[in-house]
Amino acid sequence: AIQPVILAGGTGTRLWPLSRELYPKQVIRLLGEHSLLQNTLLRAALIPEARAPLLVASEQQRFMIQHQVQSLGRSARMLLEPLARDTGAAVCGAAAFHRACGAADDVLLILPADHLIRRTEAFLAAVAEAARRAREGHLVTFGLIPSRPETGFGYIAADAGGQVERFVEKPDLETAKAYCMSGRYLWNSGMFAFRADTFLAEMARHAPGIHAAMTAAVRDGSQEEGGACFTFAKAAMAQSPSISIDHALMEKTEHAVVVRCELGWSDIGSWQTLWEVLDKDENGNAVTGDVLLSGVRDSLIRADHSLLAAIGLEKMLVMQSADAVLVAPLARSQEVKQMVAELKQRG
Ligand code: GDD
Ligand code: MG
Repeated sequence: AIQPVILAGGTGTRLWPLSRELYPKQVIRLLGEHSLLQNTLLRAALIPEARAPLLVASEQQRFMIQHQVQSLGRSARMLLEPLARDTGAAVCGAAAFHRACGAADDVLLILPADHLIRRTEAFLAAVAEAARRAREGHLVTFGLIPSRPETGFGYIAADAGGQVERFVEKPDLETAKAYCMSGRYLWNSGMFAFRADTFLAEMARHAPGIHAAMTAAVRDGSQEEGGACFTFAKAAMAQSPSISIDHALMEKTEHAVVVRCELGWSDIGSWQTLWEVLDKDENGNAVTGDVLLSGVRDSLIRADHSLLAAIGLEKMLVMQSADAVLVAPLARSQEVKQMVAELKQRG
């Protein structure tokens, strides 16, 4: 069977002031009726022969996430992290848990909760192909055609048979430009498929610290009455290095393959990419809330709290939340990340 594993523990800061540490972008209603997490759950439910998803998230996010699952009228099992050790530990913990449940030859399908995927049919076809290759003992990545030299992604070069030759996580701008120019590289989507046993053997080899810590965190973890929630043991998990699965394993393994796909994908990594995917009015504005505009073009304006009026703006971001306002040119919205880091230091 296929076991979807949804990673929902991230603390996105790039969509500040809307996203916060305890209210990250995957649980915000950014477009349409549902949050990105809810859409991920709905997509996973369409996969033939898939089990009910496992959701991996921080203990602190538990009730917010459970609320989102329940408001869809669904159920999901949760794996709770008492502390954050990045995606390497999150995925390894899920795989070790699944092995402990006695299903080590299931295909785990790792799904980040913060993606927009427009082409559901293409997604389902890619998952079917990935599951086939995963059953053969490969670690499967999903490769997307790059559209800009983005430095926040992983890059994959593969041969004609899909065998991965190089996996480079978050290269610098020069390197990313060269990769895009070469036409040889694909973006790593951040989704993966592999058998739990294949993955754990590779982790034991390339990331033994994470493997040992998370095996112990499952052994010593606690199962709640009813079985809906399992919490990794804190003392054991604290021993795990904090590294992403991309750095910990995908850059090192020799067993990776890539499934090429066109998913209408975006990871909504900034206000600008959100503006790009939103529906716009005849002036190119994406507007939410009680907003009055005059001579405003190609802008993203959101008022969550009170009336917002603006005059004569072009390609701007104006974001009002309950306790903060952000104003910036859309093209500089990547800089929000640094600003939030400064805010954190101020305390
Ligand atoms: N449970 C849990 N615990 N989930 C986590 C944690 C954690 O400690 N850290 C991050 N996540 C979740 C995030 O919520 C997101 O859904 C997913 O794991 C990926 O983490 P990100 O932090 O968003 O990774 P990234 O965007 O920098 O990079 C990854 O995705 C890119 C595409 O969006 C990499 O896989 C890149 O190679 C890839 O290109
Ligand atoms: Mg991401």
